Amino acid sequence: MKPKILLIEDNEATRFGFVRYFSKEGYAVAEASDLAKAKKCLDGDNFDAIILDINLPDGNGIDFIEAVRTADQNIPIIVITGSGNIQIAVEAMQSGADNFLTKPIDNAALSVFLRKYLEIGAMKRHISAQKRLKTSEGIYFGDSPAMQQALDLARIAATSDSPVLITGETGTGKGMLSKWIHRNSQRASNEFVEINCSGLRGELLAREIFGNARGAFTSADQDRKGLLDIADRGTLLLDEIGDMALEVQAQFLKVLEDKKYRRLGDVKLFKSDFRLLCATNRDIHDLVRQGLFRQDLLYRINLVEIHIPPLRERRDELPAIISYILHELGSSESVISDEVMKILHTYSWPGNIRELKNVLERALLLTPRGEILRQVLFDGLLSSRKTLPVIGSNTVQEVEEHHILAVLDQMDGDIEKTAKSLNISRATLYRRLKKAKSSNP
Ligand SMILES: Nc1ncnc2c1ncn2[C@@H]1O[C@H](COP(=O)(O)OP(=O)(O)OP(=O)(O)O)[C@@H](O)[C@H]1O
Ligand SMILES: [Mg+2]
Repeated sequence: MKPKILLIEDNEATRFGFVRYFSKEGYAVAEASDLAKAKKCLDGDNFDAIILDINLPDGNGIDFIEAVRTADQNIPIIVITGSGNIQIAVEAMQSGADNFLTKPIDNAALSVFLRKYLEIGAMKRHISAQKRLKTSEGIYFGDSPAMQQALDLARIAATSDSPVLITGETGTGKGMLSKWIHRNSQRASNEFVEINCSGLRGELLAREIFGNARGAFTSADQDRKGLLDIADRGTLLLDEIGDMALEVQAQFLKVLEDKKYRRLGDVKLFKSDFRLLCATNRDIHDLVRQGLFRQDLLYRINLVEIHIPPLRERRDELPAIISYILHELGSSESVISDEVMKILHTYSWPGNIRELKNVLERALLLTPRGEILRQVLFDGLLSSRKTLPVIGSNTVQEVEEHHILAVLDQMDGDIEKTAKSLNISRATLYRRLKKAKSSNP
């Protein structure tokens, strides 16, 4: 792709010469004759460098440099001034310009400058992306109030030792957030142990959590440590805790009350100092109402409750999340055209950030490096019910029905999975489906 430069210069003849010269050199050049036009250009596009004249009809370029720098630390800015204006050039440098040239401009000299600063700019961008990744450790939190609240709570959770319950639909990042809390807690140097409670039924789950003594059951030929043992001084994540069988819930509640536990088939009491994190994509309060989850256990595990909202409820953040993921995948947001962005914006993302990442990863794999992602790669998102109908002509109920049917489609009609993904009970799902049917006979 051609490097894009923005030339801000009021003299028409100078602009003309510049554009001719640098277009031939392989740059895409945009030109602005005053600061207002320059601002418009910057709002509508991303540039790799700015060449700026200081004296412009509608203001002083120095203030403009400061404004650009506040928004972008890395973009190279080269200033051109009339000769004998060294004082202004110094001021420009102090405001954040990278270098200056005096008029008349020697295009060949400017070209050498440009190439050097484009390289430095790319390096700086790379370093700040790396830094950003490091500080957030792979998690994009975003600016929406709901996500900021989740981040605030996660920070509190990291400094405390209380049990935390993380709720949210599948793919919203509950697992990632759990690890983040562990890594930022005082237990970070000890183990992070996780188990998915929906994968193992009844005794098998208890065996994993508590361990067992030799002879506890036919195949138990030796004492075996449980996850509680391994999580001693570390963190234990019980994932999909909503699916934990009631007998295991009772056993686990006892561990939380006594801080001691027995391995299966053992009389000895063991102690483990673990920090408990739980996650679920089900409506756990509803499970309590249905008698499927113990209220007393819920009180013990949700001292801090963090809810991660689904992607479709924070559509405003989509461009930022997409840009974050693309950088993570070694690409940049410039590969997304407006048409593709529109499709991504309309889709309802039942699989949330996991699904978004998969879709982008696949599209990047099928596209030569640096090229724009073709719209046809995203047409699959358009063809199903998962796309929201045009907003503005729909009632909340219609949009909700549409989403429910879309998730049902995605789960191939599986009621259990659909209810889970929507974080509602099966009974509620049946009721909504019935209602949808009667309003669309
Ligand atoms: N905030 C985020 N920032 C960056 N990537 C994210 C974020 N949330 C989710 N992802 C991506 O989505 C994937 C799924 O996240 P995760 O496994 O934490 O979801 P989950 O909520 O635990 O889902 P499930 O309920 O299905 O277990 C991650 O591996 C990551 O690639
Ligand atoms: Mg998970």
